[in-house]
Amino acid sequence: MKLTIARTALFTALSLASLSPALADQTASPDQRAATMLKRMSLEDMHHMVQSYNDMMALQQQPGGIGAAGYVPALPKLGIPAQQQNDAGIGVHNYPIDQGPGKQPAHVRGEAGNTTPLPSTLAIAATWNPQIAYEGGRMIAGEAHRQGINVLLAGGMNLTREPRDGRTFEYLGEDPLLAARIDGGEIRGIQSQHVISTIKHYALNDQETNRLTVSSNIDERAMRESDLFAFELAIEDGHPGSVMCGYNKVNGVWDCSNKHLLNDILKGDWKYPGWVMTDWGADHGVMDAMAGTDQVSGIDAGSGFSLGQSSSTFGAPLLQAIGKGEIPRGRLEDMVHRILRSMYAVGLFDHPPVIKPLDVEADALVAQRAAEQAIVLLKNEQDQLPLKSDIKTVAIIGSHADVGVLSGGGSAEVWPIGGPAIPAVKGPDWQWKVYDPSSPMKALQKLLPNAKITYDDGTDPAKAAALAKSSDVALVFATQWTCEGVDQPNLSLSDKQDDLIDTVAAANTHTVVVLENGGPVKMPWLSKVNAVVEAWYPGARGGEAIAGVLAGKVNPSGRLPVTFPQDEQQLPRPQITNAQEVDYNIEGAAVGYKWFDKKNLQPLFPFGFGLSYSRFDYSDLHVNTQGKRVTVSFKVSNVGDHAGMDTPQVYVSLPGDSGEAPRRLAGFEKVSLQPGQSRTVSVTIDPRLLATFDVSGHQWKIGAGSYPIQVGHSSRDLALKGEAAVVASTVAP
Ligand code: BGC
Repeated sequence: MKLTIARTALFTALSLASLSPALADQTASPDQRAATMLKRMSLEDMHHMVQSYNDMMALQQQPGGIGAAGYVPALPKLGIPAQQQNDAGIGVHNYPIDQGPGKQPAHVRGEAGNTTPLPSTLAIAATWNPQIAYEGGRMIAGEAHRQGINVLLAGGMNLTREPRDGRTFEYLGEDPLLAARIDGGEIRGIQSQHVISTIKHYALNDQETNRLTVSSNIDERAMRESDLFAFELAIEDGHPGSVMCGYNKVNGVWDCSNKHLLNDILKGDWKYPGWVMTDWGADHGVMDAMAGTDQVSGIDAGSGFSLGQSSSTFGAPLLQAIGKGEIPRGRLEDMVHRILRSMYAVGLFDHPPVIKPLDVEADALVAQRAAEQAIVLLKNEQDQLPLKSDIKTVAIIGSHADVGVLSGGGSAEVWPIGGPAIPAVKGPDWQWKVYDPSSPMKALQKLLPNAKITYDDGTDPAKAAALAKSSDVALVFATQWTCEGVDQPNLSLSDKQDDLIDTVAAANTHTVVVLENGGPVKMPWLSKVNAVVEAWYPGARGGEAIAGVLAGKVNPSGRLPVTFPQDEQQLPRPQITNAQEVDYNIEGAAVGYKWFDKKNLQPLFPFGFGLSYSRFDYSDLHVNTQGKRVTVSFKVSNVGDHAGMDTPQVYVSLPGDSGEAPRRLAGFEKVSLQPGQSRTVSVTIDPRLLATFDVSGHQWKIGAGSYPIQVGHSSRDLALKGEAAVVASTVAP
């Protein structure tokens, strides 16, 4: 999206009522309204809806386009608004690409961005709080709506099978239930603002290496119980208007040509009523329409100015295929019906975007609250944190912590308000390495006004160590920059940061490491430092959130949404290879902690782990079973002396070895408690979490038996144990 949007009225305010009462009747269902509209549309009108222009390049920009990733022009005679489809991995993407020949992109010219970055999506998952996800979604969609955008390419949720995946920061971790609850919250938040959200990238687009060609190979049962289950649950919760099919293949068939994924499962089993749009360039021929793809995204205007006549997949070839009877006209009607019904359902007709200024202060606070709940305290020996209020000298070392916090690169990038904290550095391709201008150092100084805080950039470890030695505490900031399009070669911090931490820790026994990273990293120095704060990419107000945790203004409550391995050898695939097929049957549905549990491996930090400045006890477990409905209730008590939030986690095991791994996350709740306060938490388990997917019977199957139930602080710290006596039953797929 360009930084300076032409503030023209985007949608002609046509009186829909004058076209037809049924079209304007907001009490009619989205399907009824779509059907009424469809009756008025010619073949050309319908055909107009099934492609979007790539509007990002100024040279290709279309009349009425605002420079978003995808643009479907309005059909004014029918009152159908344009679709302005903009990226939104963590905020409204405002990466200004090409301003025309001889001109530098706006950000290279030093201009500031105009939208608010949330913490990374993985950080949002670390909050374990769907309400935070909802608020974040609502905030970014509010910003989108005020800038003329009505479709957000958000809702990224590919499971973390591969922690080196460059897009791990854009996704929601390794567990289907957690990922789906958070994604569902985000999508509901976005769509509450009358902005359609996608969910992406369907499916098994779990690495960037060879992302345009690789085949993710996996058995039916395993994918139904893992990656697809995450999509299934999130779609039920969030009702996204559109599903984006991915670049990769699944079992040898491109995602967007994959009838089994699209027609059989998504639209068949799950009865998904919205539309499938391709990822940008993920279409593979006109017959994708018969597999279930409804819209081809981001076509190059160079291939024909008019969408109808373009030579792209759903351009002229689609009309020809309909003409020849290879694709029934009814299929085109269905494609358009699906698009229109989502536009009606989310309110694109009734609540068009209204251009107005953003409330950037309020929006930044939403980002800050999210970061505060996302930060995970991984280690805190000798109660090193929070820093004592009378501390005299603090050394802050490395990673530009004097001026900003890191963010991830690619289509999820948000060029920050105020401009980057330091000049952005170009990534390997179109990505940029951007520091958001939120200074941990300045924020800490505000909270510790009497402390002398000194910054060292960490480029000379000896100099940094000398500063650390003369300080009461040393805070080393370490970063791992990741981006779309490129996987990490390994899980190590780059640029000799491990050596820097070692050297500083040797100089000061009160060393704290603050991590700003896309996903799991190795910590060879862990035993030498007193505390580790996992801050992810913390967004617009990340500096304030980090300082709040360090100074104790914020009691950390984040929990890991991914396992941190000790090293790559513990992973199902110790290396990412250049192969064109990746074998996900190695772990099957046992993704992340399930693999570690199944193989009895000790991770560096387990899924679900996170410390607090307080302590929480669990007691009084009750398991109530009625048919396939299992409800688990228990008491959570804050037995420490800080107010804080805790996230008790319910895990279920399947009898015998029928499950993919020893246990599955079956429920969780984030609770806020004062010291001494207790609360009873009740969690009802989705029956599919008691089931296995029965491929030949085409259903979820629950076996009769006694199901161990555990309630814990993490997947490896299980405090309460009970059992659910479950009778045999089935659940429709
Ligand atoms: C990414 C999508 C993104 C699209 C449009 C693709 O390269 O994979 O996530 O929405 O570009 O920018």
